[in-house]
Amino acid sequence: MQALPVAVMAVHEWHRCAPDVMAGLYAAEDRYWAEALFWDTSRQWYEVERARETGALPGVVVHDAAGSVTGWGFHLIEGDTLHLGGLVADNPATTEALVAAMESDGDLRGAGTRCCFVADRAPGLPDVLQQRGYELDIFHYLVLSLAAPQTSPQCLSPVSISAWQTDANLALPALFQKTYPRRIARYFAPHDAPEEWDRYARNLLEQPGCGVFRADLSVVARDAGRVVGTAVITGLDAATAHVAQLAVEPDMQRQGLARRLMAEVEARAWAAGCSRVTLLVAGSNAPALALYRRLGFRPHGRFVAGYRGTPEQVRLAV
Ligand SMILES: CC(C)(COP(=O)(O)OP(=O)(O)OC[C@H]1O[C@@H](n2cnc3c(N)ncnc32)[C@H](O)[C@@H]1OP(=O)(O)O)[C@@H](O)C(=O)NCCC(=O)NCCS
Repeated sequence: MQALPVAVMAVHEWHRCAPDVMAGLYAAEDRYWAEALFWDTSRQWYEVERARETGALPGVVVHDAAGSVTGWGFHLIEGDTLHLGGLVADNPATTEALVAAMESDGDLRGAGTRCCFVADRAPGLPDVLQQRGYELDIFHYLVLSLAAPQTSPQCLSPVSISAWQTDANLALPALFQKTYPRRIARYFAPHDAPEEWDRYARNLLEQPGCGVFRADLSVVARDAGRVVGTAVITGLDAATAHVAQLAVEPDMQRQGLARRLMAEVEARAWAAGCSRVTLLVAGSNAPALALYRRLGFRPHGRFVAGYRGTPEQVRLAV
């Protein structure tokens, strides 16, 4: 049996944890997300607890010698992909123990691909992931404080920016797939499969994981009726509009479309009583970082993402 580091005395599956202990852990996260990220996650913790109780969502809890919880997290296996989620820890040894426990469950259940996308709540997580062979990506959480919008100059482009209509739902998976560089896309669709993109787009519109979809704030760019760009907006709390997705078709880029989409989003968010716009952007996404810097977004936190393909996927990617 492998010895546990001193700071980690025991690692348990989380279904053995009492609901009141879990309630305390969720409450601490709820506070963190609200205060640091302007993100109301109360509904998510409710859903997580239901899934924990029914056994639908596996997870682990780490205790120290005094029996106090020093960390916890959950994981999900979809196809052959192990998704690590909600990693929270007090110290690096706990982070290591959490990841090790989740990975061994992934091994047992034959998940060859590993994917992690979490708020930076576990000390040492980037090192732990890299030591375990993951490729690491840091996503910056950016915030823009809204001010009364200026009137935009007349635009002569044939591409129109308009309110969300449901036909855009169907256009999203293909638009995302052709727009995103693979390095970033793998966090949305680990194998670039059409059904993964369909599920990702559907989740964005129907599930609260990236905030609750707001059709009133989301906008679409059309060229002769065809969807060529979009800003998919969710609400994180009453005052916060979140850019869950911004994408412009490759052959329409560098024509000011993203800037126009974002100007429309800002105007709509302001009119709806929001005081800020937030988003997540990969540190490797130079075009998007340049765009957001120009629009006045400022760094406000970070998320840690890691990906490890099967040996076969790694070989094919070389
Ligand atoms: C990021 C993205 C939405 C930009 O769309 P776009 O319509 O090409 O952007 P715009 O033409 O409005 O560019 C506005 C400004 O952003 C910056 N910018 C945009 N693309 C850039 C690039 N490739 N390199 C450097 N700066 C860039 C520039 O400052 C640009 O102003 P300029 O053209 O006057 O120099 C587009 O590249 C895209 O869809 N990328 C893939 C999806 C993605 O990464 N989305 C963002 C998720 S966080």
